Amino acid sequence: MDAHTTPAGLRPLWDHLSHGLIGLEPLIERLMISLLSGGHVLIEGPPGLAKTRAVKWLSSAIEGSFARIQCTPDLMPSDLTGTPVYRPGTGDFAFVKGPVFHNLVLVDEINRAPPKVQSALLEAMAEHQVTAGNETHPLPDPFLVVATQNPIEQDGTFPLPEAQLDRFLLYVVLTLPDATAERQILDLVESESTGVRPMPPQLSLDDLANARQQAMRTHLAPELRDYIVRLVMATREGDLRDDIAHPVSPRGTLALASAAKARAFLRGRDHALPEDVEALAPDALAHRMVLSWRAVAEGKTARALVSDILSRVEPL
Ligand SMILES: Nc1ncnc2c1ncn2[C@@H]1O[C@H](COP(=O)(O)OP(=O)(O)OP(=O)(O)O)[C@@H](O)[C@H]1O
Ligand SMILES: [Mg+2]
Repeated sequence: MDAHTTPAGLRPLWDHLSHGLIGLEPLIERLMISLLSGGHVLIEGPPGLAKTRAVKWLSSAIEGSFARIQCTPDLMPSDLTGTPVYRPGTGDFAFVKGPVFHNLVLVDEINRAPPKVQSALLEAMAEHQVTAGNETHPLPDPFLVVATQNPIEQDGTFPLPEAQLDRFLLYVVLTLPDATAERQILDLVESESTGVRPMPPQLSLDDLANARQQAMRTHLAPELRDYIVRLVMATREGDLRDDIAHPVSPRGTLALASAAKARAFLRGRDHALPEDVEALAPDALAHRMVLSWRAVAEGKTARALVSDILSRVEPL
């Protein structure tokens, strides 16, 4: 992205992240899109690709609270959401909030958490609240979950069910850096170990709330709305129907629309373009569909099908 067109309040944040996260512009952009559209992000990538670092850098540059949850198979739902604690003095229970009650929550290795924990977390993400007994506790605003999972370790993991993947606005897949980036990473991290680390800017929660309002007011023309619907409908009918067992739901349509608006806003435009929709369709849609067993047997992937759909459906 051209940093010069970034809206003024967000530019220091963007610059800070691109200084500290070498070659991860697409991830930075998607984290910022999620902040602006109020969605959550799932990052998939092998170990050591700066997934944790990305979220820590983001949290250090935004006002608000941050928590990190390292998932393990023995985690319990209340370890995340909180527990009612008995108070002998008054004879009643007081709810002690768990780590999910923060503005930015990093859930590392979500696929190591048992299904009950995953569903408690995803329920909190969707409803922005936690229910314990007959009390409901609202989560803070903004509330952004960035979860990570590592695709190479399958033993002792609990893959997220598709219905729960749908709760993530974007699913970002990281790949290994090239030689130039690898060398820059070496130099940067080495220089940090000798004490050179830039001061992060502080984006206030008020400025973030304003930016969110503005971003969501970005114009999405009727033709572009139709384009998004045509992309989603292509997962439900037509040539690909045999490849797709469960197509994209309306949540996917809404996700792609708000992500496209946020991308346009980040690029300093007051209106979205077809390129905003095209750039985000794989990360906004692929994780929301389930392929048929036959498509899987033929080696097809959801991301490849989304590319296929993009090449066939005309934007206007
Ligand atoms: N693109 C990058 N820019 C800057 N530093 C990087 C980059 N890639 C890797 N690193 C460095 O590599 C190390 C590993 O990063 P980090 O711990 O964030 O990885 P991770 O993706 O969370 O790994 P894991 O899946 O094992 O948790 C850190 O020291 C980090 O600074
Ligand atoms: Mg990590």
